[in-house]
Amino acid sequence: MTVHIGATKGDIAETVLLPGDPYRAKWAAETFLQDVRLVNEVRGMLGYTGTWNGHPVTVQGSGMGMPSLSIYVNELIRDYGAKTLIRIGSCGGMQDKVKIRDVILAMTATTLSSPSRGIFKEVNYAPCADWSLLQAAVKAAETRSLNPHVGGIYSSDVFYDERPDLNEQMVRHGILGVEMEAAELYTLAARYDCRALAVLTVSDHLGTGEALPSDQRERSFGDMVEIALEAAIA
Ligand code: ADE
Repeated sequence: MTVHIGATKGDIAETVLLPGDPYRAKWAAETFLQDVRLVNEVRGMLGYTGTWNGHPVTVQGSGMGMPSLSIYVNELIRDYGAKTLIRIGSCGGMQDKVKIRDVILAMTATTLSSPSRGIFKEVNYAPCADWSLLQAAVKAAETRSLNPHVGGIYSSDVFYDERPDLNEQMVRHGILGVEMEAAELYTLAARYDCRALAVLTVSDHLGTGEALPSDQRERSFGDMVEIALEAAIA
């Protein structure tokens, strides 16, 4: 047991999928894994472990934002020995070519600040995805004719952003979408010699103001889980 995860050692697999929403963790585990068991419910941040094609996999909710994700990922890596961590979540589209429901595979994650900011001080560290996972995820997405966008995203600290000028600079510099977790995931994975990737579906668009109705999100979420599982086990 750790401060925020009630699982015993050995209950957590080396491969961990990380949706922000704990109920998505429940849905993904029950839909895609076999022999599923609940391994964490501390603070309602549900985690499940099962198998996928015979490989042990954990799906653990990370909560929203980098401070929350940082708590779970630190404990998963340092206390439970997680090695491959894939965020599955949503993002806001930032480029015209990025449409609602599109899949984005985040090669890099730009950030203004993160829980790791204190380490880097004046250095602008560049959090980036694991190449082997990224390559395998591209293949898994293309096999499903999903034509993913691969490139940089922006990990913001705020959903209700008061700095439209910052978003404009992100758009101007080719950032594909905005979410709130990947930069810290990539940084922690690098620090502890683990592999990480963020697989994202575009749920809303900052340019057009469109948003995916909640009843249509499940299908896109299923695609992400399959891409993440195939990439992790490839
Ligand atoms: N996640 C999904 N849509 C988002 C947005 N517009 N901003 C930040 N995080 C998001």
